[in-house]
Amino acid sequence: MKKFGKYLLIFGFIMCLIIFAAGCGEKATSDGKKIEIKFSHVVAPTTPKGLAAQKFADLVAEKSNGRIEIKVYPSSQLYGDKDELEALQTNNIQIIAPSAGKLVALDPRFQLPDIPFLFKNEQASNKFWDGPGGQQLFAGLESKGIKGLASWPNGMRNWINGKKAIKSPSDLKGLKFRIPSGGVLTELHEELNAGAVGIPFAEVYTGLQQGTIDGTVASLDNIKSERYHEVIKNITIADINSLNYVVLANAGFWNGLADEDRAILEEALKEATVYERELSLEKNSFTKGSELEKIFTEAKVEIVELTDAEKKVFKEALKGVLEKYTPIIGEDLIKLAEAANL
Ligand code: LMR
Repeated sequence: MKKFGKYLLIFGFIMCLIIFAAGCGEKATSDGKKIEIKFSHVVAPTTPKGLAAQKFADLVAEKSNGRIEIKVYPSSQLYGDKDELEALQTNNIQIIAPSAGKLVALDPRFQLPDIPFLFKNEQASNKFWDGPGGQQLFAGLESKGIKGLASWPNGMRNWINGKKAIKSPSDLKGLKFRIPSGGVLTELHEELNAGAVGIPFAEVYTGLQQGTIDGTVASLDNIKSERYHEVIKNITIADINSLNYVVLANAGFWNGLADEDRAILEEALKEATVYERELSLEKNSFTKGSELEKIFTEAKVEIVELTDAEKKVFKEALKGVLEKYTPIIGEDLIKLAEAANL
């Protein structure tokens, strides 16, 4: 009996050791395991989005001592406009940052920043995305397997083309513009008797060069980084609408992260967002003697800067777009966007 008691004691001790070791093992697999994340986007590494994506990756590597690795794939290298959303939903990539309107098929409300002259500048759009309007839009993505994380701006969009200077709404008549996506941007051009054709971002330079399109809408930074100035003749700085990226993650991947890992990613993303927004302001600023002015002037591109009064004429000509899309996007969201301008 005494011997049996001794065995029982040894058995109990071994069991305790096993349970303790299993506990440690579990901790090691959730906390200590290496995580690899793919972040795919369509612009150059030197743009605000490209630089911020890399900064996000560097910060995450630093904060996790190299345990969490984000690999950034720029310039539509891995996925382009046509397939990146699907690749995100199937978790072939974990993070993307498309312009909001590219989510039109998933949720047409994401076209809100495409509405002409809704946001007066990118600071206003940041305010909207950081507030209840942005939260409402992101919340709607959860049921589609997507987690909305942040919004990054890249300036206001302008018209560029190879045919003529655009100064008033009638100047667009008969021109064919490439648009990134969606009903709002189609409507916007049709309202001005211009054509609109959806073409992936990676094909725009060739389209302009070969003349399959006359022009496109683009932020000043995208004109420079894609070298559109080489294949166009006119830029109209019109601040038509706001180019807003939404940073999105695969929801299953994101929600499945250990709390402390998600906290590392959230903290790094917050810092990267501040950095991106500063870069966007800097890189989209067109002032006398600015780098943009030098590049466009050297390329012999004619630049028209619309005055506030001229922008008002365009806004008036396009007010039907706002009227048509208010019930689609929701009056509450439009009101929140307008309030962000104050
Ligand atoms: C475009 O397609 O024109 C933009 O959305 C590309 C980008 O990501 O800036």
